[in-house]
Amino acid sequence: MNPIQIAIDGPASAGKSTIAKILATDLNFVYVDTGAMYRVVTLAAMRKNIVLQDEAAVAAVLPNINISFKPGNPVQRVFLNDEEVTAEIRSVDVTANVSVVSAYAAVRQAMTDLQRDIAAGGGVVMDGRDIGTTVLPNAAVKIFLIASVHERAVRRFKENQAKGMDTTLEDLEAAIEKRDYLDSHREISPLKKATDAIELDTTGLSIAEVVDSVKRIIATK
Ligand code: CDP
Ligand code: CDP
Repeated sequence: MNPIQIAIDGPASAGKSTIAKILATDLNFVYVDTGAMYRVVTLAAMRKNIVLQDEAAVAAVLPNINISFKPGNPVQRVFLNDEEVTAEIRSVDVTANVSVVSAYAAVRQAMTDLQRDIAAGGGVVMDGRDIGTTVLPNAAVKIFLIASVHERAVRRFKENQAKGMDTTLEDLEAAIEKRDYLDSHREISPLKKATDAIELDTTGLSIAEVVDSVKRIIATK
């Protein structure tokens, strides 16, 4: 199997999963959505009515969680134990709480171990916040995608509208800014560009233009 690892990091709604999925399909690599994993842990803790500020209580949920993926179109299907939670992990409530849960040491360790296990199998495109810095520091290709907060909120707004979700642009901008702040300021593996990552500002760029740019970067490696 192709041992190449491609790490795609960046803030919320920068286009990471869209670009990563297209690359994985084109290259015949495995796509790993690490954000989905943190969302599953958050959902599992919320369902147990745990106070999410209680780190030990959240950590105690981990041994009972098995996270798995199955191919799906247009989105990869996500499972918590045997239950499909693909849609539920994208709810406004899970999105609002995930950055609290993802800051905890035990949660990060468990997810990082799982992500490295999956990546050990061969060619992989993995997207998240700390892939280039922590999970796969030796990845051959590291991309850091960014875009203005306004553009990212508009992108998410259109996506939510298509799903019939009732959100406002103002609320989405505020939620994205808050999550970016928490993700960038946490103690363990904060959202940060790896020193050897290539930053790509996707503001005003179409998905095809971003894919093109990333493929050009990959070709130079
Ligand atoms: O798709 P979106 O950008 O909204 O978020 P996501 O990629 O699904 O990630 C959800 C949350 O999980 C992030 O806001 C982070 O708190 C956390 N996360 C993380 O801490 N580390 C990662 N490698 C991926 C996600
Ligand atoms: O994974 P991440 O949260 O970084 O973003 P995403 O879920 O891949 O992208 C968020 C939304 O922006 C999706 O609806 C994409 O179709 C859209 N998008 C876009 O309109 N233009 C781009 N250049 C990249 C993504």
